[in-house]
Amino acid sequence: MRRYLVAGNWKLNLGPAAGLVLASGVRDRLASLDSLASAEPGCDVLVCPPYVTIPAVREVADGHPLLLGAQTCADHESGAFTGEISAAMLAEVGCSHVIVGHSERRQYQRESDDQFVRKIDLAHAAGLTAIFCYGELLDERQAGRAETVVRDQITGVLPRLASVTAENTLLAYEPVWAIGTGETATPEIAQAMHAHSRTVVGELLGGELAADIRILYGGSCKPTNARELFALPDVDGGLIGGASLDAESFVGIVEAAVALV
Ligand code: PGA
Repeated sequence: MRRYLVAGNWKLNLGPAAGLVLASGVRDRLASLDSLASAEPGCDVLVCPPYVTIPAVREVADGHPLLLGAQTCADHESGAFTGEISAAMLAEVGCSHVIVGHSERRQYQRESDDQFVRKIDLAHAAGLTAIFCYGELLDERQAGRAETVVRDQITGVLPRLASVTAENTLLAYEPVWAIGTGETATPEIAQAMHAHSRTVVGELLGGELAADIRILYGGSCKPTNARELFALPDVDGGLIGGASLDAESFVGIVEAAVALV
């Protein structure tokens, strides 16, 4: 059975002091959810702060059911790449996950499939689980191309990786028109796109992986719509932006997942 994952992507928000406050609030609220402390929690909870906030969050997360991740990593192992942070460095500071291919990195940093492949391979080599994001733009959906775009984004990366397992890789379908806009994919769209993603993974890498790999939904997910989305057969949790910046709303989304376990 696929376990839920609720992941917070803090983006360019919260330095160490403010991050510590939010992470403490999340940790304390999670403590009241008994099922998260069990041996088989049914839902993983992850926060991805800015790099410099990671050590502060680690202080409050250590020993609690709160995983730590980063929002991206370098596509090189080491060397003269000013400003970059490697996957191995992230593992060293306590990260278990890293987001790769977020639409904001595609748009503002012009990151490419080749880079995603290198980043994910390096993440895996460092022992990290990669969360690979993809999703169509509004005009691509309006032109009836959403399924083709998603197929191309998955095909451009997954089969080229040195290794893909349901443990070392998660997918995150994030329709770009729903990110930070307050507009959420309808349950019909989310289910159709997640099922389509799973079909594409099956064609490329086999039915076993397709059945086991977790696919998160991202795009204006909040406590009020999380349950409806997470109840869909092919949705295995969420990648949460705006609503992860408030402890109550983030844990409200975790509660939606826990209620379905
Ligand atoms: P949002 O962001 O929840 O603010 O729409 C989601 C994401 O970018 O991962």
